[in-house]
Amino acid sequence: MTQPTDVAEAAKRRAAEWAAQQIHDGMAVGLGSGTTSALVIEEVGRRVAAGLCITAIATSEQSHREAVSLGIPMTDFAHQPHLDLTIDGADEVEEGTLNLIKGHGGALLREKIVAMASSKLLIAVDPRKLIKTLGSVFTVPVEVVPFGWETTAVRLRDYGFAPELRVNDDGKPYITDGQHYILHCSLPKSRLTAEQAADAFSQTVGVVEHGLFLGMASRVVIGSADGIQVLEARH
Ligand code: A5P
Repeated sequence: MTQPTDVAEAAKRRAAEWAAQQIHDGMAVGLGSGTTSALVIEEVGRRVAAGLCITAIATSEQSHREAVSLGIPMTDFAHQPHLDLTIDGADEVEEGTLNLIKGHGGALLREKIVAMASSKLLIAVDPRKLIKTLGSVFTVPVEVVPFGWETTAVRLRDYGFAPELRVNDDGKPYITDGQHYILHCSLPKSRLTAEQAADAFSQTVGVVEHGLFLGMASRVVIGSADGIQVLEARH
C-alpha cells in the first residue's frame, strides 16, 4: 500500500526536478536547505555531471557539503555578489500572496541573505505547504543573538508572539550555522498582520533575522503525484 510519506516524497521529487530544470548554463545559483532542496541539489548534481556549467552558493553548511560531494562548483559572495536564481523549500506558502514561512530547518538567516542576492527566488514544495493564512500551521523561527536571549524573548512576548527556545534532544539550545539561537514565535493574527509582525521582529534588538519571507518568492512549484502546478507572484 502507498504510504502518505511516499506520496509526499514523490511530490517533493517532482517539484524539485522541475525546479532544477529552470537552471541554465552560465547561471550563478543559490541552493536551499531542507529535504526538498536536497532533492534539488541531487538533480543539479546529475545535470552538472552531464555537462551543465554553473556556479553555486548554498544556504547552509549541510547543503554546501551535499553540493560539494556531487561535484557542483561552489563559489562565495566575494567572487559572486549577485545570483541569477535561488531554489529553496518553505514551511508554509500563503495562497494568493506567495508569502512564506521559512527556517524550520534552522537555516533562515543564510536563506534570506542568499534569496536577497538573487534576481529570482523559486520555491519548491509539496501540497501540504500551501495554506490560506500564513502562520496557521507553523510558528515563525526567529534567529536571535545568544547573549541576553531571555530579555529578547520577553520583548517578543510583549508583542504576543509566545516565543519558545528551540532545543536539541539533549535539551540544550539549537545553534544555527551563524552561532545564534532560534525562538519559535506564533503569529498573533488577531493583533498583527504578517507585515506588522515582520516589522516588529526587525525592530526588536537581539533579533538577527526572522523567517517571514514576504514578497520575495517569484514562483512556487508544487509537486503532486500527478504532476506539478506553478504559481507566479503578482509583484
Ligand atoms: C530550512 O531552514 C527551511 O527554510 C526549509 O526550506 C524548510 O524547512 C523546508 O524544508 P523541507 O523541504 O524539508 O520541508
